[in-house]
Amino acid sequence: MAYNKVENATNRTFERTMTYDLYTDPKVLDKEMDLIFSKSWQLVGHVSQLEKPGSFFTTEVAKEPIIVIRGQDEVIRAFYNVCPHRATKLEKSEAGKKKILQCGYHGWTFKLDGKLNKAPNFRGEDAACVQDACLRPVRMEILESLIFVNLDDQAKPLSESYGDFFERLSKFPFLGKLKRTHQKTRIIQANWKAFIDNYLECDHCHVAHPSFVAALDMDDYQIITCENYSIQGTIVKPDKNYGSVDLNQAEMQGGSFYWLWPNLMVTIYPGPGNMATIQMLPIDHENTLAVYTYYFRDENLTQEEKDLVAFAEQVRQEDVELVELEQIGFRSRAFKKGVYSSSEKAIVQFHEMVLEALNE
Ligand code: FES
Ligand SMILES: [Fe+2]
Repeated sequence: MAYNKVENATNRTFERTMTYDLYTDPKVLDKEMDLIFSKSWQLVGHVSQLEKPGSFFTTEVAKEPIIVIRGQDEVIRAFYNVCPHRATKLEKSEAGKKKILQCGYHGWTFKLDGKLNKAPNFRGEDAACVQDACLRPVRMEILESLIFVNLDDQAKPLSESYGDFFERLSKFPFLGKLKRTHQKTRIIQANWKAFIDNYLECDHCHVAHPSFVAALDMDDYQIITCENYSIQGTIVKPDKNYGSVDLNQAEMQGGSFYWLWPNLMVTIYPGPGNMATIQMLPIDHENTLAVYTYYFRDENLTQEEKDLVAFAEQVRQEDVELVELEQIGFRSRAFKKGVYSSSEKAIVQFHEMVLEALNE
């Protein structure tokens, strides 16, 4: 194991964190791609992106090109976005609507259920050789309108992978009315795990997030670890607001912040019915693409919704600065590992899962 327990002067047991080379070694990221990202459920989209038959979007999971498309039969399916003829990436655009998918190399076409339609360079007797060619499907499940895929055919179903998380989510009455309204991305100059670590504790909130602690009752802040996920949350302080949002009258009066193994965060802020998902997608061992997706009732945000987004983004900016400073220190020879406080048990859970997945 890459972490160990140490005793302090009062004999209280602290655990040492994972060693910092796990945040700076490109070989570790290669292992993580194989053993973590290729074996876990990854959020790829929301059903509101695929309203009509033929609607599709493309994405990447663990560097694999993926296409998710709604068929003529209304069924949503996921495939590797790769042509069975000679591997060319099939659909180039990020999203759209098509009656048929066509490969740009030799013109093979595919129906929306992935079956071969035509292979123009295989005629007559040759045609029989390729008649069963089709796009290779990827495991996909949709829960609470969120579309997940998993590259691992042996993985547990999504519905069994995160304890009672989706049951908890279904209890927010406004959730079914939300659609994916917008997405923002940014590059964070830090290892993907650094941002997850940051998200999983709120010891830093008093120091780093003045607006957050002003609005939320931090005396009641709780962190609970569950099966492959964790929850943090609290209620709002009496008579608080941000921008035009009167938190005591709001549809959502508390904040609920979830983490799902390995790299997904789901946040529901106090205010009008809302949800955001945050994904940390490694670009390399020291750079991460952060993908923030917002879900509201309508693309045209109300002033309250805009103020909520501004509030969440302010908090997030404060976090990004911290993890980029942390990455500088990870590279330093000064220390090899850190220490967890007793309120950082959600980080301990995350690190134990990383180490187990990597067989460390
Ligand atoms: S590679 Fe796609 S048709 Fe040849
Ligand atoms: Fe933070």
